[in-house]
Amino acid sequence: MPIFKKDKKSKNKMQEAPDNTLQLINNCKIGEGTKIWNFVNIYGCEIGRDSLVGCFCEIQKGVKIGDRTRIQSHTFICELVEIGNDCFVGHGVMFINDVYPPQPDPSVWKRTVIEDGASIGSNATILPVRIGKGAIIGAGAVVTKDVPAGAVIAGNPASFMRYLNGGKGE
Ligand SMILES: CC(C)(COP(=O)(O)OP(=O)(O)OC[C@H]1O[C@@H](n2cnc3c(N)ncnc32)[C@H](O)[C@@H]1OP(=O)(O)O)[C@@H](O)C(=O)NCCC(=O)NCCS
Repeated sequence: MPIFKKDKKSKNKMQEAPDNTLQLINNCKIGEGTKIWNFVNIYGCEIGRDSLVGCFCEIQKGVKIGDRTRIQSHTFICELVEIGNDCFVGHGVMFINDVYPPQPDPSVWKRTVIEDGASIGSNATILPVRIGKGAIIGAGAVVTKDVPAGAVIAGNPASFMRYLNGGKGE
């Protein structure tokens, strides 16, 4: 069971169950209907409505996640990542913001945007890129370049396979 209590007075403010020592949730805004499972470490981020965060995820400060988006277990989402609505982030997906680690100065870190409806397969590694609407990222892909909307990509480094439904982009 996800252990998470909503603050009924406010739509987007969450209040973690005070007696649940199996979750670390600090200073987050979490929308109504969103389920957070145990053994997470999430802080300073925003998650919309009816989304899900599986167990053993870490989500860092400043991250924004939209509505109805699923973050599966064991995923790490670093600062400077924005994920849209209706996205799927598979198990053990790793995001990257510091391309030449360790760079202690966050001003040199880079941003990643995942547009609405994109789906990221398990164990993918996402370097700082933009993934277009409805794109599909294969399991284990290492994504080093922007991905056009509706594209299916896979591999290391990830390369273009086709557009969904045989179409071009959206
Ligand atoms: C990328 C993906 C969508 C492609 O599916 P598909 O279009 O049906 O692809 P196919 O199975 O027909 O494979 C086509 C080719 O791509 C290769 N391929 C498929 N998935 C691959 C992947 N993730 N990485 C590298 N190569 C891949 C296949 O080996 C095949 O190669 P070949 O033509 O040399 O034989 C799918 O394989 C995938 O990885 N989905 C993500 C699943 C996932 O992580 N789900 C998470 C929740 S369980």
